[in-house]
Parts: sequence; structure tokens; C-alpha cells
Amino acid sequence: MDNFEFYNPTKILFGKGMIARLDEQIDRQARVLVLYGGASAEKSGTLGEVRKALGQRTFCEFGGIEANPTYETLMKAVEVARKEKVDFLLAVGGGSVMDGTKFVAAAVPYQGEPWEILLKQGETVQKALPLGTVVTLPATGSEMNSIAVISRKETGDKLAFSNPHVFPVFSILDPTRTFSLPSRQVANGVADSFVHVMEAYMTLPQDAMVQDRYAEGLLLSLHEIAGRITSAPADDYDLRANLMWVATQALNGLIGAGVKQDWATHAIGHELTAKYGIDHARTLAIVFPAMLKERREQKRAKLLQYATRVLGLTEGTEDERIDAAIARIEAFFEGLEIPVRLSAYDIDRAGIDPIIAQLEEHGMTALGEDQEITSEISRKVLERSL
Ligand code: NZQ
Ligand code: ZN
Repeated sequence: MDNFEFYNPTKILFGKGMIARLDEQIDRQARVLVLYGGASAEKSGTLGEVRKALGQRTFCEFGGIEANPTYETLMKAVEVARKEKVDFLLAVGGGSVMDGTKFVAAAVPYQGEPWEILLKQGETVQKALPLGTVVTLPATGSEMNSIAVISRKETGDKLAFSNPHVFPVFSILDPTRTFSLPSRQVANGVADSFVHVMEAYMTLPQDAMVQDRYAEGLLLSLHEIAGRITSAPADDYDLRANLMWVATQALNGLIGAGVKQDWATHAIGHELTAKYGIDHARTLAIVFPAMLKERREQKRAKLLQYATRVLGLTEGTEDERIDAAIARIEAFFEGLEIPVRLSAYDIDRAGIDPIIAQLEEHGMTALGEDQEITSEISRKVLERSL
């Protein structure tokens, strides 16, 4: 196991009615900016609950953060935060609103052009406004990590940054706040969480017993959730609660501590979103099975471990078990009604070229757990998904 430092200061308040506890989490004297996305938070009643819980505090609101939040929109929120002299940010939404809020938190006190935060992947962030989140979409794990992914319309970039100053101080996870989600977003959440676990797990054996078995527990849970969620009623509290808790833990740093991680699927997926506007989770369903086919030999031992320990596949030769495991992963996405081919989005061979060009422009040419995935290999991966 590699040396590691693990730090995660986010306090989790989990369960029905927990939004009412907001009052105890934020200083009474704080000037709060509540940030949200489109119409969903108002329509579902979540914003109303938040306003009520904030009570007599001074707060203002910034709505309109889009899916795949943009620098252009977020800079308007930065202006509001500076003008109103707010000293606490509260995100109410999914990954896009949480990520956008992290960016605003870092950008408000930033000296210089805030886009630099993305260009330097967060290294230049010295401080940030404190932030909390009220989660409405279990998927990204943003509620308990220090990562944010921001897009820029002007240039077509989608870049990530990470810095310990943008860990949420607290996150409120009330599963009833997810009941209003369209089934497409629920499916996206299951798929994104699954690939987050896989990016930490499906690499090479590293004799990391705890990380492996923790990841396998999350994968087993996600297989079970995926099997039930498309036919379950939207208000199945326990199922939603399980999804919410899995999603948070899939990317809160624990399963990735002390082990080499992959993240090549995400790097390629982000370019697919930037270029073609495909939902984040849906890009992963296109890339991940193809990645496994392309990297089958390098990932052989872990594919077999997953086949045995998670899928219970013990019959047949090693190659047959690996084939079956990859087929089960494709079936996992397809069972969630998420296509695993680029052709489902009318993207053909010529459509791969701009993705490779973007990867090269962003320096994403040594990806994967061993930095072996060059842009030529990324091209092969995408060709396997045509
Ligand atoms: O805008 P509104 O009206 O709120 O609608 C949203 C949005 O259209 C809707 N929604 C959210 N909660 C709802 C709801 N609709 C009804 N009821 C609710 N309770 O869902 C739509 C999608 O929301 P979004 O926040 O974009 O989805 P998600 O949580 O999947 O976040 C995706 C973003 O997170 C980034 C992605 O790249 C993408 O930009 N990621 C962030 C990561 C992180 N911070 O660690 C890691 C991930 O790998 C990912 O890259
Ligand atoms: Zn993701």
C-alpha cells in the first residue's frame, strides 16, 4: 500500500427532516448566499424548506446554475457574493450546483483571474468562503469531497480542480429530497457512483484489503440498487437512502487512499460532455466498458477478482469469466436505460477526432493507473465504443 494522508472534514447530516437542522450549522450572524440550479429546487419544495430553516438570518439567492456549470454563470454569482459581502455559501442541488458553489467559494477571495484556479487544478487556491450543501441528486459525491468540475462556454473546456479549502463544512442528505428526480437522473446517479468506485478499484492488485473490500461492498450495493431502482416507486425511502449513502462514499476519498487510481474514463468522458453535451454519467457508460476491453490484460487480475467476489462468477476459464464480467457491466448500464455506444448519440469515427484533439490540448495524454494511456490508446478505446 502506498503512503497516504487522509483528510475529510465534512460533517454529514443524514435523513428525513434534516434540513431543519441548518439553523444549528450556520453562524447566526453569517450573511448567506443560497445557490441553486433551474426550477427543480423550487418546485420540489426543497428551497422553501431551506428558506424556512435559515429563519431570520440575512440571506440572498442566486439561481440558474446550469447542468455542467459554466464559468460565465458562476462569475455572476461571484459578483453577487462580493457585492453583498456574504460570508457563507449554501448549495442546494446536485453535483453541478455543489461544484459551482465550490468554485464561487474559491473565486470570491481570489487574487487574479479566477479561471486560473481551473488551469492550475486548484493549486493556487489559498483560501475560500466556507460552504455547506443540501443534496438533491445522489451521484457525484461532491457533497463530501474537495473536487469541482467547471465548464467554459467561450472555449469549450471542461476542467476540474481540487483543494482542501472547498470541502463542504457540512452536507445535508435527506433522501426524500430526491423523490422528485426524473428517472433519467436517478439512473445517471447510479451509473456515476458505480464508475467512481471502479476508477479506484479496477486497476491492479495492490494488496489493499480494506480498500478492495470496501469498494466491493459499494459495488455489490450498486448492483442491487440498479436491479431494483427502475421499477421501484420514486418514494421508496430506503432504496433512495441507500443510493444516497453509496454515492457519497464512492468518492469521498476513502476507497482511493493508498492505492493507484485510474480516472482515464472520467478524463475522456469530460471531453465527450464538453464537445457533445452528453450527460456526465452517460459518457462514462460509453467509455468504461470499452476501456476494460482495451486494457483487459493490464486489469486482468482485478477483473477476475471483481468477477469472483462481486459477481460470483466462478465457472469457466479466466478469459470466459472476464468476458462475462465485462458483459455484466454493459448490462448494468443498459438495465438503467443508458446506452453504451457512441452510435446511440449519432457519433461516428469522424466524431472521435475532436475528442482526441481536446485530450491533447488539455495534456491528458498519460492517463490511467500507470499513466500508460496515450491519446492513441484513448482513440482505440473510443473506437471500441462505436
Ligand atoms: O437545474 P435543476 O432544475 O435543479 O435540475 C437538475 C438538473 O437539470 C436536476 N435535479 C437535481 N436535483 C433534482 C433535479 N430534478 C428534480 N428533482 C431533484 N431533486 O437534475 C439535473 C442534473 O443535475 P446535475 O447537478 O447536473 O447532475 P449531477 O449531480 O449528476 O452533476 C453532474 C456534474 O457534476 C460533475 C459532472 O462533471 C457534472 O458537471 N462531477 C463532479 C464530481 C465531483 N465534484 O466530485 C465528480 C463527478 O465525476 C463529476 O465529474
Ligand atoms: Zn463522475
